[in-house]
Amino acid sequence: MAGTDRYTIVLELNVNGEMRRAAARPADLLLDVLRDSFGLTGAKPGCLNGDCGACTVLVDGWPMKSCLMLAVEAEGKAVTTVEGLKNTAVQREFVDKFAFQCGYCTPGFVMNVYGLAHLRPDADEHTVKDWLQSNICRCTGYEEIRDAVVSVLQRRASSAADAAVAEDATNAADGAVDSPMRKGSAANGSDT
Ligand code: FES
Ligand code: FES
Repeated sequence: MAGTDRYTIVLELNVNGEMRRAAARPADLLLDVLRDSFGLTGAKPGCLNGDCGACTVLVDGWPMKSCLMLAVEAEGKAVTTVEGLKNTAVQREFVDKFAFQCGYCTPGFVMNVYGLAHLRPDADEHTVKDWLQSNICRCTGYEEIRDAVVSVLQRRASSAADAAVAEDATNAADGAVDSPMRKGSAANGSDT
């Protein structure tokens, strides 16, 4: 952070993997700097007091309400906005499950669910319900949103299982896994 005049500073923020600079006041909200200085209008202003979640972004991977965070607090952290997500499973599931109507709340929900899928991939129904309470949809499409979340988590679980099976198969082929069968065979002095 370098000073310009008495009222402004130059912020350097890592946004969507890129270092960006903006002149701002120390009291400027992260939400305003993202939208007004960087043109990243995916994060939406709603209640501006932390209730609706329309302004949700990820900060170091955690969903944060950007109306509750000063832009200066984001220096040195990785900020991700919905513009930084490209064709993710969360986005696809929201489309497939029709999990939006007017769409105003959607970027905030997408960011929150993306955070959930990475931070709590094994979330149960109770956790999902709790997690989603930080966002409000005024069109009340909650059922479709919940369906999209469940589908994202199921896909993640099955691809993690597939990856684990593939890794086991590779390890076994490499002889890297000392499986109980192999141990038994070795103990028996037999490879069969
Ligand atoms: S605008 Fe940030 S929580 Fe509503
Ligand atoms: S889709 Fe309209 S506010 Fe959620």
